[in-house]
Amino acid sequence: MSIHIGAPDGAVAETVLLPGDPLRAQFVAENYLEDVTQYNAVRGMLGFTGTYQGVPVSVQGSGMGMPSLAIYATELITAYHAKRLIRIGSCGSIQESLHLRDIVLAMAASTDSAMNRMRFHGMDYAATAGWNLFRTAVDVLESKGLPFLAGNILSSDTFYNDDPDLWKVWQTHGVLAIEMETNQLYTLAARYGVEALTFLTVSDSLVTGEEMSSAARQSSFHDMVESALTVAHRLGAGPAGK
Ligand code: HPA
Repeated sequence: MSIHIGAPDGAVAETVLLPGDPLRAQFVAENYLEDVTQYNAVRGMLGFTGTYQGVPVSVQGSGMGMPSLAIYATELITAYHAKRLIRIGSCGSIQESLHLRDIVLAMAASTDSAMNRMRFHGMDYAATAGWNLFRTAVDVLESKGLPFLAGNILSSDTFYNDDPDLWKVWQTHGVLAIEMETNQLYTLAARYGVEALTFLTVSDSLVTGEEMSSAARQSSFHDMVESALTVAHRLGAGPAGK
């Protein structure tokens, strides 16, 4: 048991997929995993463990934003011994070369948050993806023939902002897209000596103002989930709870 996850020891697999939306966690569990058990409903932040092609995998809602994700990531690692955390989320593109439905692999996550400024006493930290997860994901995406870009993203504390041009300084420095969680996911994974990776699908473009239809959202979500599960499978997580 931990404060925000009401599960017994051993309920969580070594590999955990982390969508922001708990209903997405339920959707993944019900549509992609076998032998599923729900291990968490505290605060409605649903968590499930099942198997994917015989390999134990958990899927846990993280909520939106870094403070929420940090709670679940910390408890999954420290109380439930998760070893590989794979975020599956959406992002807003800030580069013309990155189109709706494309997949982004976050090599690194910059941030406008103060969370790491507190942790590192005002100094900067380069929050980067876990190498094994990253190189496996590149291999999986290439072998599936799915279009993707890998690079730096921005994890922002704000979705709505009074300054409509704030993102442009990140654009001119090559940052691909904006979301709200990965910088803390990568920081905490490093802090506790585990691996993390973020897959994102582009749901909107700050450059063109385009937004994905809900049908397109569903099919690009499918490509990302299957890719993340294939990574989990290839890295062959041990039995739940080990
Ligand atoms: N900003 C932040 N998070 C997001 C966005 C965005 O434009 N799109 C999807 N997640």
